[in-house]
Amino acid sequence: MLNRLSQLAALALATSAAALNIILTNDDSWASANIRATYEALKADGHNVLLIGPAVQQSGKGGTFVLPTTNITAPGGEFGTIPVGAPYYGQDLNDSSIRYLNGTPAACAIYGLDIIAPTFFKNQSVDLLVSGPNEGQNNGPFLYALSGTIGAAYTAVGRGIPSIAFSAQNGTHRSYTTNTGLPSDPANLAGRLAANLVAALANGIDTSKERLLPLGVGLSVNLPLFGPTSNCTEPPFTLTRMTGGAVTNKVVIDPSTGFPIYQNVIPKALNTAYNGVPILPGESIVSATCRTAVSVFSIDYDAPSKVAEPVQLQLLPVVGTSKLA
Ligand SMILES: *[C@@H]1O[C@H](CO)[C@@H](O)[C@H](O)[C@H]1NC(C)=O
Ligand SMILES: *[C@@H]1O[C@H](CO)[C@@H](O)[C@H](O)[C@H]1NC(C)=O
Ligand SMILES: *[C@@H]1O[C@H](CO)[C@@H](O)[C@H](O)[C@H]1NC(C)=O
Ligand SMILES: *[C@@H]1O[C@H](CO)[C@@H](O)[C@H](O)[C@H]1NC(C)=O
Ligand SMILES: *[C@@H]1O[C@H](CO)[C@@H](O)[C@H](O)[C@H]1NC(C)=O
Repeated sequence: MLNRLSQLAALALATSAAALNIILTNDDSWASANIRATYEALKADGHNVLLIGPAVQQSGKGGTFVLPTTNITAPGGEFGTIPVGAPYYGQDLNDSSIRYLNGTPAACAIYGLDIIAPTFFKNQSVDLLVSGPNEGQNNGPFLYALSGTIGAAYTAVGRGIPSIAFSAQNGTHRSYTTNTGLPSDPANLAGRLAANLVAALANGIDTSKERLLPLGVGLSVNLPLFGPTSNCTEPPFTLTRMTGGAVTNKVVIDPSTGFPIYQNVIPKALNTAYNGVPILPGESIVSATCRTAVSVFSIDYDAPSKVAEPVQLQLLPVVGTSKLA
């Protein structure tokens, strides 16, 4: 285990990789500063990148799969990037590799895979889907289910595409036109780290022979805070698990308005670790410091047999003995 961990640590330092065919999407829209900075960073590393992002902000959609049924409606594309009445699918006037779809993140990922990728990548296979970096972290199982950024990634994993979801703590919703161009811009820091992790994952791997990740497996990566209130610019990659210090919601009634509001809680149930490597720290705890949390997720949501068996045995009278091996 330790040997493998130090191997991974060495790989994380790699800064270049063979050219990959990458679909890049997100949930904060095709015009967000983070996705455009990541596009630039991946291109700078020599990858073939198809950016296909939602026309408008699609935060919190999880894996919801909504394809467009109308052209662009009022008030138009995010940050004024697409006029009302424009087609449901289109491209940046200056760069045909940058495209939008008027759909949810999961729909963008799969539209990109099935409709655009065959011509875009000239029938070569898609090596990787990158989603994000989200404007805001997505730590723990509750946010995993809720996040459109992770939703695009786990939907693509289900189609056999190795996928990485990136989520950055700086939650400012910004257009790419606000990027300062400085390496220290929070969007550029996030984009560079995303490209570095892609390089580490692809290091030494010939994708014509080998997958970047096993079938049914993806990565969820949470970046710490970047910006004027943080001195963090080079957070080391740290292996984590999704459980451990993770939050979910509880609802209380706001005494001043009488309306229900949510508050964070850290329940034992949400942080029960059935899977994963138990010695690893929780991603919520790690990404709260100047470290980048790297969790390996699987889309096999069945409970492990040891946990499921007592429940299944209890149900034997109704399911019949022949159903259990
Ligand atoms: C959507 O846009 C396309 C391309 O401009 C146009 O041909 C089509 O008529 C539009 N559809 C609707 C329902 O407005
Ligand atoms: C395209 O490039 C021109 C010239 O650099 C610029 O003025 C314009 O805003 C760009 N359009 C988009 C959609 O980025
Ligand atoms: C991709 O493959 C299809 C089916 O084999 C073929 O018709 C098409 O011309 C190919 N496209 C490119 C860009 O190679
Ligand atoms: C997030 O980034 C934006 C853009 O650089 C910056 O204005 C903002 O202060 C940052 N947020 C924090 C909490 O540092
Ligand atoms: C950043 O570092 C400088 C110099 O070490 C220090 O003065 C400042 O308080 C730090 N800011 C934060 C937000 O940690």
